[in-house]
Amino acid sequence: MSRLVVVSNRVAPMRPGGGTGAEGGLAVAMQRALRDRGGVWFGWSGKTLPSDSGDASIVEIGPVSYATVDLSQQDHDEYYTGFANSVLWPLFHNRIDLTDFTRRDMAGYLRVNAMFAGRLLPLLQRNDVLWIHDYHFIPLGESLRRAGCRQKMGFFLHVPWPPMEILLALPNHVSLVKQLCTYDLIGFQTEADKHSFLEYIRQEAGGEVLPSGRIRAFGMSPIVKSFPISIDTAEVAELSRRAEKGAQSKRLKKSLMKRQLVTGVDRLDYTKGLIQRLESYQHLLSNYPAFRGRVTLLQIAPPSRSDLADYQRIRHQVETIAGHINGTFAEFDWSPVRYLNRGFKRQTLMGFLRASNVGLVTPLRDGMNLVAKEFVAAQDPEDPGVLVLSRFAGAARELESALLVNPYDIEGVGDTLAKALTMPIEERRERWAAMFKHLQRYDLVYWRDTYMGALEAAPCGAAAA
Ligand code: G6P
Repeated sequence: MSRLVVVSNRVAPMRPGGGTGAEGGLAVAMQRALRDRGGVWFGWSGKTLPSDSGDASIVEIGPVSYATVDLSQQDHDEYYTGFANSVLWPLFHNRIDLTDFTRRDMAGYLRVNAMFAGRLLPLLQRNDVLWIHDYHFIPLGESLRRAGCRQKMGFFLHVPWPPMEILLALPNHVSLVKQLCTYDLIGFQTEADKHSFLEYIRQEAGGEVLPSGRIRAFGMSPIVKSFPISIDTAEVAELSRRAEKGAQSKRLKKSLMKRQLVTGVDRLDYTKGLIQRLESYQHLLSNYPAFRGRVTLLQIAPPSRSDLADYQRIRHQVETIAGHINGTFAEFDWSPVRYLNRGFKRQTLMGFLRASNVGLVTPLRDGMNLVAKEFVAAQDPEDPGVLVLSRFAGAARELESALLVNPYDIEGVGDTLAKALTMPIEERRERWAAMFKHLQRYDLVYWRDTYMGALEAAPCGAAAA
């Protein structure tokens, strides 16, 4: 079996059961995916230095080499903070209003991708298969090909692909899509994302969509397919069972004094719909007084990308509204909101999800949202909680038995919360069983294997070049 070379901006060391809770789904997913095949995980070290540091530094753990590169302050500002997180992230989440495009950042993004390609190339073996992740690295494939890489290369986008009208607002949309087409396989989270991409290919790029799943555009012919990412369902179920008996879960339950628990777990990001979520909870408390004193919202929101003004702003807004709700409704022996600006160990988190009556996952836009899937897998089959899920999360396409909501409809989400908190046990079990069954089959291994299978079967564009 050929080695796997994974490239992602964040590289998390392999620690069994590790994780701070602050990391995105990608890190957790990749640890599992690399474990079996062995290979290289390549990306940014997380360190920023005054100037460039030279070669990648390599740490071997088991069958995996972790190769990381430091970024200079300028590279970090232009590539990570700039183009990746102030242009592509907001744009791909339909927030043109938050994009801050500059040619300087775009050039920095391309320069860092070319630099990564140069550092990765000497680490590659002839039969390696490359799996490149997320919006940070769209041009990496083209840079690698230019530098002489002939190995098979697949790309997977963890965030949504935007509708064509939104993408057109990006000044370099043509070159970005062209760069994407260099990969042998382009994977999206959902069929909807794929269709948005294909619409662009047909209408803007003058390309062709072939019945085989391939497209023809810019003189290239990649395969385009959707692969909804998932979780290690059995592992989450086991972790949550174990955590239930642990000290943290017991402490949480004791502190609730038999109150119902609604839980949200999100990076503190403006895409997660935290303001609307808190307003919906406020609507519940205002309009359903019976819940006052009887329910607690636990919102776990580890800070993220705190250098950026939009993230500082959302943090301030969330703090203000959480404080306002507590100020308005709290009693001397009850606070309606517990807002925690930190992450937790995975097992502890899975225990908290199991202890919850409702999982409140209401992003305004999300590529997939693995918390929604984890919430389902973490439930007690005898007494499962209810998932309230935004229809704008990729996960909503699969978890159809959740209570699907429009997160912009504050009153609607508040009313749905009331419904979730009073749902009869039979209905809870029925809804949960359908979702859990789906997740047992379509788990992380399924995702990895279908992606890798498609990549291995894809013709290599470099051979034709
Ligand atoms: C999302 C992205 C990931 C990213 C993660 C954390 O899940 O899809 O690529 O790693 O957020 O964001 P950060 O900027 O801290 O890496």
